[in-house]
Amino acid sequence: MKLGIVMNGVTGRMGTNQHLVRSILAIREQGGVPVGEGEVIWPEPVLVGRNERKLRALAEAHGLERWSTDLAACLADPELQVYFDAQVTSERAPALRAAIAAGKHVYCEKPVADDLGEALELARLAQAAGVKHGVVQDKLFLPGLLKLRRLREGGFFGRILAVRGEFGYWVFEGDWQPSQRPSWNYRAEDGGGIVLDMFCHWRYVLDQVVAPVRSVSAVGVTHIPERVDERGQPYACTAEDAAFATFELEGGAIAQINSSWVVRVLRDDLLTLQVDGTEGSAMAGLRDCWVQHRAATPRPTWNPDVPREIDYRAGWQEVPDNQRFENGFKVQWEMFLRHVGCGDPFPWTLLEGAKGVQLAEAGLRSWRERRWVDLPELEP
Ligand SMILES: NC(=O)c1ccc[n+]([C@@H]2O[C@H](COP(=O)([O-])OP(=O)(O)OC[C@H]3O[C@@H](n4cnc5c(N)ncnc54)[C@H](O)[C@@H]3O)[C@@H](O)[C@H]2O)c1
Repeated sequence: MKLGIVMNGVTGRMGTNQHLVRSILAIREQGGVPVGEGEVIWPEPVLVGRNERKLRALAEAHGLERWSTDLAACLADPELQVYFDAQVTSERAPALRAAIAAGKHVYCEKPVADDLGEALELARLAQAAGVKHGVVQDKLFLPGLLKLRRLREGGFFGRILAVRGEFGYWVFEGDWQPSQRPSWNYRAEDGGGIVLDMFCHWRYVLDQVVAPVRSVSAVGVTHIPERVDERGQPYACTAEDAAFATFELEGGAIAQINSSWVVRVLRDDLLTLQVDGTEGSAMAGLRDCWVQHRAATPRPTWNPDVPREIDYRAGWQEVPDNQRFENGFKVQWEMFLRHVGCGDPFPWTLLEGAKGVQLAEAGLRSWRERRWVDLPELEP
């Protein structure tokens, strides 16, 4: 079964690397998405964007024939059933609206929109149009977080007390070394800012790996006021590049997550999440996860007058893989294509995506108003 996919924003960082190369092309290389009895779903991408030269080069580099700068024409083509969007965040909502109006099934990067009202409206429109819809929630498929989830489901933690997360790394300012992230990330007027970017992830990670988020208190800061863009031009950073947040979770656990593009890494991974429970604790990185059971917990005593007596890291045990882990973007693409092609369930809908925007918006409000902000249940 062939599925034609309009891939918009495919020349970007995420569009090219994660969605085209590591997902759609990888699926084609393996012979499609198997759907039983020798049948497969075969994705047929059309690369869409604004720059003809970039699109042609990308298509040629990967032996693809179809690309276009005319989104409206692609949306009018009945052979293209799916619209995918990895454009800059600020361009996403209008494009999704057009795709839903054209009757396409839609799948997109997070955040689905800049604000909650628009995100919810998109979910309603898709529901009313009867199209299938989904949002990327890739961190759920990180091996380290899959192991955390496995531990929770196996009852390892007992009562979960607290979560502490550290996300981030140093993003070069662009003056003496090029930046590893696009400049729009640091401009509020272009949909940038680490709160909108990362709180979407923290919402589904906390909701689905630990417990649903009920309330947030956050503060953001723009540590670096000026950076240098892709063309070597200095620009003012109008969006925050770090955010420090506390979340109250259902059941009473407290999660604290620092998100920063202005931090030098001295930890095992770019994201680490520690979960402490009455029965045991776990620390997950992107791929690995370590545990310490209550029975193996050392008894530290505070005494800076003597050399450290306990090797704290040695008291943790590595959680085995016990399964093969694939690229999370590809796994989610396969699930979405089966959802479209065969009606298989797909839980990460536009409404789930809207929850991420809800948390980002609540985090920004908390920062602005210097107070806790509760998250009401979202109505579909
Ligand atoms: N799931 C994740 O882990 C993850 C990680 C990074 C980014 N993202 C999301 O993916 C999306 C793209 O991020 P990226 O890092 O690939 O960005 P990028 O700047 O590398 O790519 C943006 C794409 O949008 C296109 N575009 C369309 N209209 C544009 C405009 N007016 N200005 C600039 N570019 C425009 C660009 O041509 C390009 O193809 C964002 O919404 C971002 O939040 C998700």
